[in-house]
Amino acid sequence: MKNILVTGATGQIGSELIPVLRDKYGNQAVVAAGHSRDPDTELAEAGPFCKLDVRDAAGIEQVVAHYRIDAIFHLASLLSAVAEREPQLAWDININGLINVLDVARGRGCAVFFPSSIGAFGPLTPAENTPQDTIQHPNTMYGITKVSGELLCGYYHKRYGVDTRGVRYPGLISYKTPPGGGTTDYAVEIFYSALKHGRYECFLAADTRLDMMYMPDAIEAAIRLMECDGQRLMHRNGYNVTAMSFSPADITREIKKHIPDFTVDYKVDPVRQGIADSWPRHMDDSVARKEWGWQPQFDLPDTVADMLQHLSNRLTTS
Ligand code: SER
Repeated sequence: MKNILVTGATGQIGSELIPVLRDKYGNQAVVAAGHSRDPDTELAEAGPFCKLDVRDAAGIEQVVAHYRIDAIFHLASLLSAVAEREPQLAWDININGLINVLDVARGRGCAVFFPSSIGAFGPLTPAENTPQDTIQHPNTMYGITKVSGELLCGYYHKRYGVDTRGVRYPGLISYKTPPGGGTTDYAVEIFYSALKHGRYECFLAADTRLDMMYMPDAIEAAIRLMECDGQRLMHRNGYNVTAMSFSPADITREIKKHIPDFTVDYKVDPVRQGIADSWPRHMDDSVARKEWGWQPQFDLPDTVADMLQHLSNRLTTS
């Protein structure tokens, strides 16, 4: 990778991936492309930033040609709860946007990173130790776009030789940019509420266990996969990756070790509970560990301690 384009640059993953890529590859070598949110000053001023709607194929082509891009981290996507509210829009952004990126990548010889998700599984998938290769019949629009995205990336690799690579991310926890409209967002919101109000109203039931990951591990996964020798990759797209598996009750117990008076009430949102109930509890990520050396660093106690420390600093200085 020499010149890198990141779509969805102002989103939860993009806003943290870009500074790490710029440290490694140089500020001018990493082009941040955002659409719906305004970039923060650091993102917009440290290196190139452009407004880009991934549904605009000509716009992608122009940016890729102008900056002589050879690798695209294609992060622009609607998350699960928003996609249930606006399924047609989710298809348009998540699938037509991806096809546009893949076509430009094909024409211009770019590698492509595509983030799939635990959402690419469904109610028929084994929920415990979910295998790398298993039944994928999602019953949400988000999941349908993610499993279709995995298949499209596989197709462009096999048919046109595009160097597509991807992981199936679990819920991602971070303090820099909030996620927008996901089912696993409770695991981020809970920290803000704990610090600001000492209480939280959770939209998932207390025992809803899901795979999760702290953002530094998610960034490391994307970069490590894109940098590894492609010959080692037997599974081109959608590697299972996870770092921990917990429920709202588990994370509450861990936060209470730091904030003993913290309390959680449960007001279950049937839509998001239904989505969560269709997802794995714990994925088997041994294939990623074997093929490209995936190794997470943060477990639940590490994540909670680090989140509370960073967020309390941010909240006191803002
Ligand atoms: N975090 C995502 C969501 O909840 C799952 O990939 O939509």
